[in-house]
Parts: sequence; C-alpha cells; structure tokens
Amino acid sequence: MQGSLNSNSGPRYRHTAEEGAPYETITIDKLTPIIGAEIAGVDLSKPLSNRQQDEIHRALAENLVIFFRDQHITQDQHMAFGRLFGDLHTHPAAPSEPGKPELMIIHADKDSPRANGEGWHTDVSCDLEPPMGSILYIKKCPPKGGDTLFASTYAAYESLSDRMKKYLEGMTAIHDGESVYRGLYKNFGVTEKERYPRAEHPVVRTHPVTGKKGIYVNRGFTRALVGVPRDESDAILRYLYEHMENPLFQCRFRWRENSIAFWDNRCAQHRAMWDYWPHTRSGNRVTVAGDKPF
Ligand code: SIN
Repeated sequence: MQGSLNSNSGPRYRHTAEEGAPYETITIDKLTPIIGAEIAGVDLSKPLSNRQQDEIHRALAENLVIFFRDQHITQDQHMAFGRLFGDLHTHPAAPSEPGKPELMIIHADKDSPRANGEGWHTDVSCDLEPPMGSILYIKKCPPKGGDTLFASTYAAYESLSDRMKKYLEGMTAIHDGESVYRGLYKNFGVTEKERYPRAEHPVVRTHPVTGKKGIYVNRGFTRALVGVPRDESDAILRYLYEHMENPLFQCRFRWRENSIAFWDNRCAQHRAMWDYWPHTRSGNRVTVAGDKPF
C-alpha cells in the first residue's frame, strides 16, 4: 500500500490494493479498498475448522476490521470465539456481565448520561500491553443510527510527509487511563479503582503480524509526547488527530441486530455515534489481550 496526500489538489490518498490468495471457507465483501470487510459463510455458533479460523485471522489482518451478520451466539460462545485469537482481556473500569469479567456491557438508552466510545480512540491504549482486538456483538439496535466508524492508522501513517515520519521516528507518548475512567461508569454503580493504567508507547507502532507501521496516538487516551515542550506536543498531537480523521482512511458500519464487529486495535481506531437517543443500543464486547507495542 502506498499513500500520499497532495496539497495542490486537495486531500488525496493513493491506495494500492494488495491481492492476497483467494479464500476457501469464507467470502469477503470489502466496505472500502482501505478498511473494513463483511465476512459471509460462517456461523459462529458452530465450531470453526482450523482453515476457517486461519482465514478469519487473515481477513482481519488484511481488512483491519471485519463484520459478521445474523449471528446468534451465547455469551460463552462469544468468549470462546475471542479465545481463538488469544487470552481475554479484562477491562480496567467498565461494567461486565455478572460472573463474567471478560464480557463488557455496551449499553445506552434514554436514561444514559453517555454512550461508550463516542470519541476517536484505540481500546485501552493506556494498558502496558493494550488489547490486540475487540469483538463487539450488538443485539439490540435503534431504528436508525448508532453506527461505528473505523479508521486505518496504516493509511494515516503512510500518507504523512517523509519529514513528519522522520520527526516521529523513535518518539513516545503517554497514554493515561485515570483521566478517562475515573467516574465514567458511575451510572452503572461501578466501584472506583485506587489506580488506573498509564503507559508510554511509541507514537508509530509496527504491527506484529503484518509488519506495517501505523500511528499509535489517539484523542481518547494520549496525553503528551515525551521529550518535547507541552505546546509542541499539543500542536503535533492535534495535527495527527486531525490527519487521522480524514474520511479517506475510514469506513462506517451500519449495525443490524445480531451483527458482530471484530477490529484490530493495533492498526485501527474507532468511534461510536450516539445519534439515536432516546432509543436503546445494547450488546457485549469481548476484548482479546495484546502485547507491548514496538
Ligand atoms: C467501543 O468503543 O468499544 C464501543 C463501540 C461501539 O459501541 O460501537
């Protein structure tokens, strides 16, 4: 994939699609050439063959976020699907289903003071080892709205100028959980923790599977670049956030009941739209543990 933004003719990103080997056990319908694909031909309530698991893994690596429609799975099947990709991550603050700390509740209705994920973010990037992926199963949808937007951090990185890439080389940033999570889940009656995670991560991370580089700062958790004055850090971060939010790097998923989105937090950011009040949107998220960004 190659990219450039040409300032003379407005934002333009040149994407060269990589054609992988054909899939044998699933079918792929891409939402855009850059990010997102709907997967058909798989029933997640049934055991998956090794070949299906491999192809789903490959589809995730190639498309950054994948979607499944009309899935009818139990809470245990949801967690078992997550475990095919790694250990499950327990959220440091969010409410979970009774007796199932790895099964996060995603819910907003007419009485909610807020909804999950309303700003652009990467899940729990404040952890020392942030989650590799998140698998969201939405069971109740509003009649309209409640879409989720996803953005490729590879495309955002590749379209930076060579000078900016050089400037960011070796730079790290602080990601803070306390400023996000303390008090956030009061309406769910969640007890406050004594401490919340905080971590320093590279601003550009290399994906451990694809070897590609992506920008790894986000509006949700990143607080400052390390080793530069505060005003410079604020200005560069603001530039990176605005650059990453270019719609050229995005896809937008319209939920229907019993849909699943599985996104790779190592190369995609997302934000949820809360445009459906007073309606209800509800489901669960299973999060797959990840490793230390490099
Ligand atoms: C999240 O950030 O995990 C929530 C995404 C969504 O509700 O669409």
